[in-house]
Amino acid sequence: MKNVHVGLGDRSYSIRIDSGIRNRSQEFLPWIAGSQVFVVSNEFVAPLYLAEVRAALGGKEVTEVIIQDGEHVKSLETATMMFSRMLEIPLDRQATVIALGGGVVGDIAGFAAACYQRGIALIQVPTTLLSQVDSSVGGKTGVNHPLGKNMIGSFHQPRRVIVDTETLGTLDTRQFSAGMAEVIKYGVINDPDFFEWLEHNIDAVMELDQSAVEYTIEQSCRNKASIVEQDERESGVRALLNLGHTFGHAIETATDYRSWLHGEAVALGMLMAATLSCVQGWITELELGRIQTLLERAGLPTQPSRDFSSDTLKENMLRDKKVQQGRIRLILCRGIGRAVVSDDYSMSALDRTLREFANG
Ligand SMILES: NC(=O)c1ccc[n+]([C@@H]2O[C@H](COP(=O)([O-])OP(=O)(O)OC[C@H]3O[C@@H](n4cnc5c(N)ncnc54)[C@H](O)[C@@H]3O)[C@@H](O)[C@H]2O)c1
Ligand SMILES: [Zn+2]
Repeated sequence: MKNVHVGLGDRSYSIRIDSGIRNRSQEFLPWIAGSQVFVVSNEFVAPLYLAEVRAALGGKEVTEVIIQDGEHVKSLETATMMFSRMLEIPLDRQATVIALGGGVVGDIAGFAAACYQRGIALIQVPTTLLSQVDSSVGGKTGVNHPLGKNMIGSFHQPRRVIVDTETLGTLDTRQFSAGMAEVIKYGVINDPDFFEWLEHNIDAVMELDQSAVEYTIEQSCRNKASIVEQDERESGVRALLNLGHTFGHAIETATDYRSWLHGEAVALGMLMAATLSCVQGWITELELGRIQTLLERAGLPTQPSRDFSSDTLKENMLRDKKVQQGRIRLILCRGIGRAVVSDDYSMSALDRTLREFANG
């Protein structure tokens, strides 16, 4: 069992990481104040794991809400449906929401918990690698709007995060790799020792070796927790967590959020950020090669793609919310483990980087 503390004063909580904890009452019950529990899961995850989580909630009055699978359900319509269910019961202010699933379930269930009666308790039980190392930690909740992804939301920290590594056994390899992009990201941002550990242990992680996976999730959550502790509401250092994301969002937009998984786009985006840093002379060719090799070994894309042109990527980047006076603020690196926020790079170096990875 690994335990990571997120220290945010009276909003502090623990992230519990172990194999087979989804049915342990002692992991849940002490953190549930009232008698009512509202469990949100999706049509794919519920048949796999909901009965076991329910078994851990003995004695509570449990309501289940099963939503469809897919990013499209992260909408205000789904949230409204949840609010209606909550009000019909009706849930009181001591009720607890449990989010059982990947980042989509976590974000929308978290949003419902954040809004219902101005905020009720939330427990995250993330079941994808991405949600275990990233979205379930840090309190960002929200839904998509037709005019922008994740544009409607709120900060609402969970009371506890329960990571059952056994659930990764049913996740497909491509989704697992996508989560690894965020894992590798923590090493590149802030943690050169973890990056090096990954270089030595990536094969064991990819084979789901229990202790390697547990350590990977623990270190990732520690890194995220330490950044969130310094800057809970993203007014400064938390922006570093967007390494690879401005490039990545441009790829996701160019491909209509269909053919590339978020983590895949972030992986190539991170490599673009590293390449631009290298063109600027901020990291060495050797460091750039190490990042590329690690991403490849995690099953992530690193090669130029025909799915988009450099012009489309640049247009999309200029529409990103991080643009100030026509200059795109990017997260770049001054070494592995030393990410910086910068708009101090040459535009021709950016153009060159985009052309290197895009189709013309
Ligand atoms: N709140 C944050 O800080 C934050 C951070 C990063 C990403 N996000 C959000 O997270 C979402 C992406 O999360 P995701 O990658 O987990 O996607 P997801 O929730 O769509 O899960 C990916 C797929 O895996 C399935 N799945 C989940 N657990 C499984 C399991 N144990 N076995 C088999 N299949 C399983 C899901 O049903 C889905 O089909 C996006 O909406 C993104 O915006 C939020
Ligand atoms: Zn991400």
